[in-house]
Amino acid sequence: MAHHASSLESKAAPGLVAAVVAGSLAWIRASDDRVDFPEGPTYTERDELILPADYREWIYVSSGLGMTYGPEKAAERLPPRFNNVFVARSAYREFLKSGTWPDKTMFILEVRAADANVSINNGGRSQGKLLAIEASVKDVQRFRDAGWGYFSFDGPNGLVKTAAPLPASETCYSCHKAMAAVDNTFVQFYPTLFEVAKRLKTVRADYEPAGGP
Ligand code: HEC
Repeated sequence: MAHHASSLESKAAPGLVAAVVAGSLAWIRASDDRVDFPEGPTYTERDELILPADYREWIYVSSGLGMTYGPEKAAERLPPRFNNVFVARSAYREFLKSGTWPDKTMFILEVRAADANVSINNGGRSQGKLLAIEASVKDVQRFRDAGWGYFSFDGPNGLVKTAAPLPASETCYSCHKAMAAVDNTFVQFYPTLFEVAKRLKTVRADYEPAGGP
């Protein structure tokens, strides 16, 4: 028995080692000259975007609190909420270099309740229940019109794990295209990235700091 096992081992091991070495070399070569997307978008066979389970390990971009924008001023009617924005790490690194987002960049926007009077807190707000998750993906092949696709993981009974792209008639597309300062993304609200975009001159020429839709 022992002999059988060890002879299998001695036959299998060199091949296995070679495969592992070749695999890691290929990975190193690929990451040398182009962006790798270990956290890039993945889709079901029905072309629905899969919500990444680990997006909270991505780069935290910024948070908005009770932000109001657009004609409806929805936040005036609702209690304030936090919007937390996350972006895939590899795309973030690329943005630091170029001031723009590489193809296959993926964002997650998480909406959370802003709670008052939690524990010892008797002023201000802390983040509470997860209320909604939205996503955007840059993919010039897949989303030929806008270059970006927009997704909502809100289902009829709470959050869902996969989402089809929202139709191009949704306001996501028009607001992001018209009002976002850098490449369809609201970098004007992400202080550290806005500094990068200003330095690398990738803020759109007609961006108006006080402009509204
Ligand atoms: C009236 C303008 C407007 C509309 C409509 C809108 N957004 Fe946004 N979006 C924003 C602003 C402003 C931010 C900045 C972050 C924040 O809200 O805290 C943002 C941020 C985002 C982000 C983070 C990445 C980025 O682009 O900055 C995602 C993802 C996103 N929105 C998805 C959506 C989706 C999906 C829809 C449609 C269901 C939508 N948005 C509709 C204004 C808009």
